Amino acid sequence: MKQDFLKYQAQTSPHPLVLEVSHAKGSYIYDTKGNAHLDFVAGVSACSLGHCHPKVVTAIQEQTETYMHVMVYGEYVQQPAVAYTKLLASLLPDSLETTYMVNSGTEAVEGAIKLARRATGRSQLLAARHAYHGNTMGSLSLMGYEERKSAFRPLLPDVGFIEFNNEDDLKKITRKTAGVILETIQGGAGFIEPKNGYLKKVRQRCNETGTLLILDEIQPGFGRTGKLFAFEHYDCVPDILVIGKGMASGLPVGAFTASQKLMATLQDSPKLGHITTFGGNPVIAAACLATLKEITETQLISQTLIKEALVRKLLQHRLIKEIRGKGLMLALILENAEIANHLVLTCAKKGLILFWLLFEPKAVRISPPLTISTDEIESGCGIILEVLEGYKQ
Ligand SMILES: Cc1ncc(COP(=O)(O)O)c(C=O)c1O
Repeated sequence: MKQDFLKYQAQTSPHPLVLEVSHAKGSYIYDTKGNAHLDFVAGVSACSLGHCHPKVVTAIQEQTETYMHVMVYGEYVQQPAVAYTKLLASLLPDSLETTYMVNSGTEAVEGAIKLARRATGRSQLLAARHAYHGNTMGSLSLMGYEERKSAFRPLLPDVGFIEFNNEDDLKKITRKTAGVILETIQGGAGFIEPKNGYLKKVRQRCNETGTLLILDEIQPGFGRTGKLFAFEHYDCVPDILVIGKGMASGLPVGAFTASQKLMATLQDSPKLGHITTFGGNPVIAAACLATLKEITETQLISQTLIKEALVRKLLQHRLIKEIRGKGLMLALILENAEIANHLVLTCAKKGLILFWLLFEPKAVRISPPLTISTDEIESGCGIILEVLEGYKQ
């Protein structure tokens, strides 16, 4: 199967991990040789409730037996998406009441920047250096790494960059700026949190200039940082919230949320200002609904902070220079990239799944399912310490 994978499936890198998956359950992925791999990555923060959570599986099964795709987004009233967007609105600030469901994170970002341009009548978009918002042309244009995008130029015109956490740069937000897009906690850059009321200051500047603030919560969203959404930690409500990844606990999805008034601008001038075939798909929406109910009706969100404290207590080692992030969105910062690579690859051989961050080579991601148990955390951290202890410089 490995050879066919390498030949017939397009590859993203010359060094894929090539774990041959048999099945997955809870915090474990099982390979075709029968080995169990403890998952400290959760499909890169996507499987919030672990693998094949029974409530998500049941919701999907029931919906597939009722109806699947019946019409393009926005025409028919389909219960799963209606129930989901209504529940989501009840959990968000009043101004974030209307959600447009799409098929992936990057597509949600595309929708959000279109909305910002359409609603303000302005064209300039500002993003942060070292930002990652996805890989389609629009979100690629917002990526704060020239070397990863220069081969694909020309990209979107009128896109500028500001330094995350740099207050002086806020003057670049002007009356010409349609939208400022920021990750609430920068992911690919190394799990960088906003400091010294930064997001509130961005909010203030956006208010002064009539610019829309877009927060990308695709990674920190859905309870991962100890709040349903990370912006709740920083007392800053965006005009447009972008979500995805953990939203359906393992099915492809994304969405952007704004006020009804703002969102209405996509309905006309031009008519059908944003359309999609599969957005709001009932099977995916049923998985989203089951996931959101489980996350908000249990103690999973508050337990995230207890689990973070456990990881921080256990993972004390001279080669770990820092642990960044919040809740179960954590990154170990090692002394150098070589140690980070050694850790990821050696842990893989010992049955622990870890992964890199996109742009910070010294970092190793720990973003397990929110449902991970303390025993599983202890066992995974034990493997990490054993591998670091055995590392010969
Ligand atoms: C912050 C952020 N925005 C956008 C995306 C893109 O999401 P997707 O891969 O679902 O298109 C990601 C994916 O890693 C992300 O972390």
